[in-house]
Amino acid sequence: MGYQMDYFQLNRMELNELYDNLKGKYDGFLNQQLRLDMSRGKPCPEQLALSSEMLTNIAPEDLAEQDGMDYLNYGGIDGIPMAKAFFSNMLGVGMSEIMIGGNSSLNMMYDAISRALHFGVYGSDRPWGKLPKVKFLCPSPGYDRHFAICELLNIEMVVVDLTEDGPDMDRVESLVREDDAIKGIWCIPKYSNPDGITYSDETVDRLARMDTKAEDFRIFWDDAYTVHHLTEDHEPLKNILTACKEAGHPDRAFIFGSTSKITFPGAGVAVLAASENNLNFMRKQVAVQTIGPDKVNQLRHVLFLKDMDHLHMHMRKHAAIIKPKFDLVLNKLEAELGGQHIASWSKPKGGYFISLNTLDGCAQEVVNMAAKAGVTLTKAGATFPYGRDPRDRNIRIAPTYPSLKELETAIDVLCLCVQMSSVRRILEHSPA
Ligand SMILES: Cc1ncc(COP(=O)(O)O)c(C=O)c1O
Repeated sequence: MGYQMDYFQLNRMELNELYDNLKGKYDGFLNQQLRLDMSRGKPCPEQLALSSEMLTNIAPEDLAEQDGMDYLNYGGIDGIPMAKAFFSNMLGVGMSEIMIGGNSSLNMMYDAISRALHFGVYGSDRPWGKLPKVKFLCPSPGYDRHFAICELLNIEMVVVDLTEDGPDMDRVESLVREDDAIKGIWCIPKYSNPDGITYSDETVDRLARMDTKAEDFRIFWDDAYTVHHLTEDHEPLKNILTACKEAGHPDRAFIFGSTSKITFPGAGVAVLAASENNLNFMRKQVAVQTIGPDKVNQLRHVLFLKDMDHLHMHMRKHAAIIKPKFDLVLNKLEAELGGQHIASWSKPKGGYFISLNTLDGCAQEVVNMAAKAGVTLTKAGATFPYGRDPRDRNIRIAPTYPSLKELETAIDVLCLCVQMSSVRRILEHSPA
């Protein structure tokens, strides 16, 4: 039996025969004692090396008295002017709409929610934490760490389907119109984690315009992959801050971003963009949290990344390293699983992930089988709130970190596990 056969056209005898054949190959992998990790979206060492100049690009004279500030000393609570200018260009917002943080945007998201729970948000002095219940809409599949923040802070998560154009907006609109416990929505608007989709203009407009029962509702716009194109066909994203202003809700959106996957995840610069009113409200609290962020790192970034042209040039170098990895995974998935009607997958134009959907009820089994053969994948269910994928079918593939050779083997194992698990499910559901 060759590839590209439709598994659903096979009779039980053929399926059993196929299973034995696949099992033989799987056992071969078990004997190899592999140790491959495709679980987290991390840049590979070659990508990190692209920014190594940043480790030596600063001299003492760069640090003395800039903008009336000594960068080696305390102060500069929301960032140095040069870095604010850089990020305002990157995110398409005004200089006064930028607050720079430490090295992690996830940290800024956590802090923003935590402050809202303690103190409320601009325009409302009712802390969310004083309310009987706080809920967030969670377009899914989504980012496990967003969901982990909600879980830790006792925010109830409401799943909303993610479509090719963004969250299912009919459902979002009807939920926020009726329920004032819904205070926020998580959005990864560009090259989303894990599906790689970019929100359509209409989705952005509807999010900006929609009537919310909670007047202190906020959009958590995690623009983590805004310049992370894999091809020259850049997907455009409408500016949420502008859309919110135009819709008469200027304070609705918090935009988050960072250079984690531009320079170094361990030593990047994170940023929050929001209305001046939002930032003024937050600054008072941030000024108690810290006496100022790492201005030296901000300066190193500006000296290295310079401007948007240089930034895009730099991102092309990342793409040159990781695009072949995405291509390898996509080609292999097509070669091994194409035409079999047992899986579908995303073909992203940017970001860090490929999202694979198996037949319902297979994902957990596939991830466990792959782990047994030495291939670590992101936990099944991780892309849904509470780790529960209602159809048990989504698997996030993170192709950037492993080498091409490692990837090839890891995807071979993954495809084999998908095939074996699919045969089992089909046999379970076909008459004996
Ligand atoms: C959607 C998304 N947001 C945020 C992050 C982490 O960002 P940071 O390194 O700035 O904390 C990631 C990392 O994988 C991500 O996928």
